[in-house]
Amino acid sequence: MERIVIKGGFPLSGTITIGGAKNSAVALIPAALLADGVCTIKNVPNITDRDALFEIIRLLNCDIKQNDKTIEIDSTKLENVPISEALSVKLRASYYFMGVLLGKYKHVEIYFPGGCNIGTRPIDIHLKGFKALGAKVTKSKHKYTISAEELHGANINLAFASVGATINIMFAAVRAKGTTIINNAAKEVEIINVADFLNKMGAKITGAGTEMITIEGVDHLNGAEIEVIPDRIEAGTYILMGALMGKDLKVEGIVPEHNEALFEKLTEMNVDYKIEGNSVILNKRDDLKPTNVTTEVYPGFPTDLGQPMSVLLTQAKGTSIMEETIWENRIGHYPYLQKMGAKIKLDGLKATIKGKSKLIGTDINATDLRGGAALILAGLIAEGTTSIYDIDYILRGYENIINKLSNVGAKISLEEI
Ligand code: EPU
Repeated sequence: MERIVIKGGFPLSGTITIGGAKNSAVALIPAALLADGVCTIKNVPNITDRDALFEIIRLLNCDIKQNDKTIEIDSTKLENVPISEALSVKLRASYYFMGVLLGKYKHVEIYFPGGCNIGTRPIDIHLKGFKALGAKVTKSKHKYTISAEELHGANINLAFASVGATINIMFAAVRAKGTTIINNAAKEVEIINVADFLNKMGAKITGAGTEMITIEGVDHLNGAEIEVIPDRIEAGTYILMGALMGKDLKVEGIVPEHNEALFEKLTEMNVDYKIEGNSVILNKRDDLKPTNVTTEVYPGFPTDLGQPMSVLLTQAKGTSIMEETIWENRIGHYPYLQKMGAKIKLDGLKATIKGKSKLIGTDINATDLRGGAALILAGLIAEGTTSIYDIDYILRGYENIINKLSNVGAKISLEEI
């Protein structure tokens, strides 16, 4: 077991390069199994969620070749065996094998997915979509068997614009007979990346990135190549670090339009940032203004940046509000920020944050991926030493985070416990 140790108070200078988006990559990797042939995926982030997907793909007798961030997946010998509970619970995105295997083989056996403890995380909207396409879903304990004689196109209205359900239904619908329309689809940019990949394989999908996606089913999908888009959440996390500790910190390889909601809030707060092409340069300021932030589906302020954002709010002079609306439990980091000296009042999912607070380093625990990232932000600005435990959550989604931060001057290391 390891912990992250941070000595706070050191400025961040130099360049951090953003990797491929976790939430795109975890869908693109299973998507490759829809092709009858070899797929190439470029810019795949080096995160443990990727490795968990590889384990499932190997169990299904597919071949993976890896050369740094480029992977090749050959699914020509795929065997559609049941995916064990031990593998299913390793990550949330294991649920994408439901749509993929149902689409291609009209049958899948898999368990309830895992993932961060940020809510009950039901998959009812995914299953309702599969049923609308003609599948039968049976559940015994945590195991799902989803089968169809034949999948047919359908008009599907999502009860919530779920990212996972939108992608999973696309996966099944690309091989259904006829046309499927997904209404109230999620509009996240990762969905466009996935639809682009499927279209390169020969799928006929239009409207990805809008609330109505149309999928005309096809009989066959061929191998194709795709590049994972830059990770807007990783970018946002480092941008927030730059707002707190930057001294000409450059965050490069971003798509600024993907982080518009964040930049709007940074402008309101008086953060010193300058966008130059695909980079942003940040400098710490001592006169940050408070603001109110509510998380929303894309293009609103992303739920995945709410926790890191709350740390910036502790450094603004006055009262700010950070309210989470997507997940019912994205508040695990607040008690640790309080322990470090932040003045936060929690009322359900609404945090009232009074700044500016001096944070003091102490021993704290990551309770989930983005909450863990928030604690790193807190450690970077705290006086003294912060030790973060349960860091597996963080390594699931941030590639080389220790190196990326050390390279720009942070005093951060991994230590064996
Ligand atoms: N929901 C349901 N039923 C469903 C599906 C979702 O009630 O069948 C609810 C959820 O409980 C939640 C809301 O709808 O309250 C949003 O869920 P969504 O399906 O959009 O989330 P997801 O697809 O499971 C992805 C990312 C999350 C990110 C959300 C929202 C992956 C693997 N995960 O989750 O990423 O927070 O979209 O953008 O793509 C993270 O990276 O830290 C993370 C948790």
